[in-house]
Amino acid sequence: ATNVYPSQRDVAARTPPYSKLLRNLARVREVLGPARALTLAEKILYSHLENAEESLLSGTDNGARIRGNANLKLKPDRVAMQDASAQMALLQFMSCGLPATAVPASIHCDHMIVGEKGADVDLPEGIKGNKEVFDFLESAAKKYGIEFWPPGAGIIHQTVLENYSAPGLMMLGTDSHTPNAGGLGAIAIGVGGADAVDALVDAPWELKAPKVLGVRLEGELSGWASPKDVILALAGRLTVRGGTGKIIEYFGPGVDTLSCTGMATICNMGAEVGATTSIFPFSPGHVPYLHATHRGSIADEVTKLSGMPEAQNLLRPDSKAEYDDVVTINLSTLEPHINGPFTPDLSTPLSQFAAAVEANNWPAELSSGLIGSCTNSSYADMTRAEDLVKQAAAAGLEPKSKFFITPGSEQIRATLEADNTLQTFESAGGVVLANACGPCIGMWKRTDGVVKGTPNAIFTSYNRNFPARNDGDRATHNFLASPELVTAMAYAGTTTFNPLTDELPTPSGKPFKFHPPEGRTLPDSGFAQGNPEFLPTPGVPDPSVEIKIDPNSTRLAVLDPFPPFPPTDFKALRVLYKVKGQCTTDTISAAGPWLKFKGHLPNISENTLIGAVNAETGETNTAYDVDGSARTIPELAKRWRDNGTEWLVVAEHNYGEGSAREHAALQPRYLGGRVILAKSFARIHETNLKKQGVVPLTFADEADYDLIRSCDEVETVGLREVLEKGGEGEVRLLVRRGGEVVAEGLKRGGRVIRTEKSKMSSYSRSAIQKP
Ligand code: F3S
Repeated sequence: ATNVYPSQRDVAARTPPYSKLLRNLARVREVLGPARALTLAEKILYSHLENAEESLLSGTDNGARIRGNANLKLKPDRVAMQDASAQMALLQFMSCGLPATAVPASIHCDHMIVGEKGADVDLPEGIKGNKEVFDFLESAAKKYGIEFWPPGAGIIHQTVLENYSAPGLMMLGTDSHTPNAGGLGAIAIGVGGADAVDALVDAPWELKAPKVLGVRLEGELSGWASPKDVILALAGRLTVRGGTGKIIEYFGPGVDTLSCTGMATICNMGAEVGATTSIFPFSPGHVPYLHATHRGSIADEVTKLSGMPEAQNLLRPDSKAEYDDVVTINLSTLEPHINGPFTPDLSTPLSQFAAAVEANNWPAELSSGLIGSCTNSSYADMTRAEDLVKQAAAAGLEPKSKFFITPGSEQIRATLEADNTLQTFESAGGVVLANACGPCIGMWKRTDGVVKGTPNAIFTSYNRNFPARNDGDRATHNFLASPELVTAMAYAGTTTFNPLTDELPTPSGKPFKFHPPEGRTLPDSGFAQGNPEFLPTPGVPDPSVEIKIDPNSTRLAVLDPFPPFPPTDFKALRVLYKVKGQCTTDTISAAGPWLKFKGHLPNISENTLIGAVNAETGETNTAYDVDGSARTIPELAKRWRDNGTEWLVVAEHNYGEGSAREHAALQPRYLGGRVILAKSFARIHETNLKKQGVVPLTFADEADYDLIRSCDEVETVGLREVLEKGGEGEVRLLVRRGGEVVAEGLKRGGRVIRTEKSKMSSYSRSAIQKP
């Protein structure tokens, strides 16, 4: 058809620069020697280096120890931003004074639509309620030549998969599930806005060369097992920290049996194990997907490239490539898994789940089942769920729980509508929400009658399940599963149901048992375009456009640069708060209702650390001033900032896990925080802290965590020197309590808390610090 989107011109513009990448790969081979075997992740990453020799040979024993050591200076091909994080990214980009972005970029309005009654009501309300933000984003996009996908167009990662991702591409996205694009063979990395700005201004983006974890897939999925179960099971094995500093690269015969969207689901949730990104090699599933999304010319080109001799092959790993570690998963014997509640790595095989519900006293009643989201809204996912709904409807059954469906994009929605899939869901009582994040990001007005604070259970096919993630209610037990399983559970209305073995009573009295779901991988005649209003603006800069920010806005505020980093060490930082246990970016900067302040740093800072548990009292969001008076954390932080007291936070492992939310770094900085001292950091958050001028320090001996208390005074010794040397090294901290160095009063006798490897290399390039 002539009016199919994207046009052939768009597709040509979005095709990765293969000739250049092949030349760069040849240069990498020259630098490392022809005998050096490379993984797929290394090939794509290193082909995007600004200067292969400099990045690969310095500090690596001449190329012998690249992974985990080399400081890669990368030039990504494109940038994608979602509406919540794009605000701060654009505010930072604006402060750089450039006329257009240096690489192609896109903005996707998906995070700010509340899911409640269904798309027809929710979407117009969401647009009305967020108009000034959408207007700002659209005006900035038009000015700088960024493609702007309006609210309703879809969720960033679906839209990227359908339009931009391609084998061999390297992109940055201001959202932690950006690796979703790895399902189509791209290296796609989730970053904060300041990192995105690096790429947008053509500064090299720096990354410590990741290690590569190989996941070998064998066999073939069947029955109830789905791609989601691959990553749910893997998350249980690796834990939320198992992928830190690593790229997960899938290989083995099982890869060729998976669909492109299934691979994207698997890559999407690599974020849940902390991986830098995840990637699949070019495989048979990619070709029909590229055709169905109207990108046949890319399919032809990558098919040709994938046949090139190994030495020049950008799209497959070398046959002798070595991984830092290998995990094997047999798809043929894989059981469906359910992960949660409250953490994505608590993984239980379906057959053991009912017993786990009982043993842990998790709610047995299921309040809501929610399918879709960026993780699981493919045509295959939805048609498999549809099959179950049809089976149940034929037996006279209706879902016992509330049932919500979120299509990932307008393409998916329109195609499912054309194929009657949505009508099937709706006639079963399902509510089709807008093509947006909605309940996945806490934008959910619940209609299932659950009273806040009452322990209750929901099943979602989403990717994340930290406490309060979906509805702001810490009493909600969120379990992650495949869309098929969520659908079946919604019919049972209980969390203890096992559709493989259990029957449901029917009105006719004849017991009903589901057959394993069957779906269709792709629509027979390609995806429908849907409503043309949801197509993006063309990415052509127009300097005459004026960017819309109301000076009285409560939602958008132009950024003032922070004062520069002091030329000396810190003499007297005060411990604002000692955090106990998990501290995610949701804990540090809550989402849900706060999302509306993403472009207004003073206002959003009112949520800083409000989810953090006080290690000394067990209370949440209760900090104590030096005089013993109790305040909320933001209150005390502001008070100290206003009287000139700079502060630090002490925390445990994986501080800042979860998302790429740079507000979690900006807000502490804005409120006077200078150091976060933790047992360990999540990668993206650590980088975000550095970019905003907050020093992330890790304990050399994590038992020293026990030595520090809130309101202690901390002096840094050697920090300035470490920063000047590029950021790696040891910093000593002197901790004083009531003017005395605390050593005397403490059993361990150590007056100095050592920290190591603060890795501050990218610190000085903070875009926001530019005058
Ligand atoms: Fe949106 Fe949830 Fe994905 S918030 S981008 S649908 S993880």
